[in-house]
Amino acid sequence: MLLIGFGAALAFPLGVRAESRSELALGRQAYEVHCAICHGVKGDGRGDAASRFATPPRDFTKGEYKLRSTGSGQLPTDADLIRSTTQGLPGTAMVPQDHLTEAEVRAVVTYIKSLSPKFAARPSPKALPMPPPPPHTPEAVARGRQAYKKGECAECHGPEGRGDGPSAPDLSVKPTDLTRRPLKSGATPRDILLSVLTGLDDTPMPSYHLVLEDEELWDLAYYVVSLGGPPEMTDDERAGWEVERRHKQH
Ligand code: HEC
Ligand code: HEC
Repeated sequence: MLLIGFGAALAFPLGVRAESRSELALGRQAYEVHCAICHGVKGDGRGDAASRFATPPRDFTKGEYKLRSTGSGQLPTDADLIRSTTQGLPGTAMVPQDHLTEAEVRAVVTYIKSLSPKFAARPSPKALPMPPPPPHTPEAVARGRQAYKKGECAECHGPEGRGDGPSAPDLSVKPTDLTRRPLKSGATPRDILLSVLTGLDDTPMPSYHLVLEDEELWDLAYYVVSLGGPPEMTDDERAGWEVERRHKQH
C-alpha cells in the first residue's frame, strides 16, 4: 500500500497533465459535435448557423461573459459556465445543452476556457458575496421602484422598463425590455439581482456593486420581477431549437 502511495506521488505531475489532456480532448470532441454549429469551430462565435440569430453566439476567444457571479470585468467561475451550458440563456438561441453527461459538461467548459488565454493568465475567479434577501413584500417592490430611479435604469431601460430609454438607440446591444419574459439570466429575484450586481460584461449593462446598497439591489430585483408578463417564445429561441433539431438528424 505504502509503495503504491509513493509511486502515485512521484507520478503526480505527469498524471495531472495527462488527465487534463484527456479532459481537453473529450471537451473538444463534445464542443465540435454540440457547440461549433453556433459558436464556430474556432470558438469565435461564427458558426454556420450564427447569422440566423439577432443576438449572436458568444465569441469564446474574447474571454468575456455576460452571466457571472463575479465582479465586472472578471472571468466567470466554472459553476457559472456549467450553469449557462446546461440551462441555456432563455429567450436566446442558446438553448439548454442538458443532453450532455456531467463529465462532458465539465470537459466542454474546460475546453471553452482554453480558447481564451485570459483563463490561464489569471487566478481562479471568486464569486461576489451575495447579500441576504430581505422579505419580498409590496413595500419592498415600491422601494425597488425608487431604486430604479436612483440607479438611472430608465436611461437605457425606459421609465416603464420597456427597453426604450433615451440612450437605447445609441447602444451596441439593445437594452432588455424588462416587462417581457423570459429573462436570459433566469426568472428568480436572485437571478435578477446577480445581473444588476455584476453587470453583463461585453454589453452596456453596468455593475451596480457598491453603487446601490445591498437592500436596494434586492428591492430592485423584486420590482423587476413585478414587471414581468407571461413567458413568450422569441424568434431567436425558436431558431435555436430549429438548428438543434436539424443538427441532431445528421
Ligand atoms: C443553436 C445555437 C447554439 C448552440 C448549439 C450552442 N450555443 Fe452557446 N450560445 C448561443 C448564443 C446565441 C449565445 C449568446 C446569448 C447572449 O449573448 O445573450 C450563447 C452563449 C453561450 C455562453 C455564454 C454565456 C455568457 O455568460 O455570456 C456559453 C458559456 C455557451 N453559450 C456555451 C455553449 C456550449 C458549451 C455549447 C455546446 C455544448 C453551446 N453553447 C451551444 C448559441 C448556441
Ligand atoms: C447604460 C445602459 C443601461 C443601464 C443604465 C442599465 N441597463 Fe440593464 N441592461 C442594459 C443592456 C444593454 C442589457 C442587455 C444585455 C443583453 O441582452 O445581453 C441590460 C440587461 C439587464 C438585465 C438582464 C436581462 C436578462 O435578460 O437577464 C437586467 C435584469 C437589467 N438590465 C436591469 C437593470 C436595472 C435594474 C438597472 C438599474 C439599476 C439597469 N439595468 C441599468 C443596459 C443598461
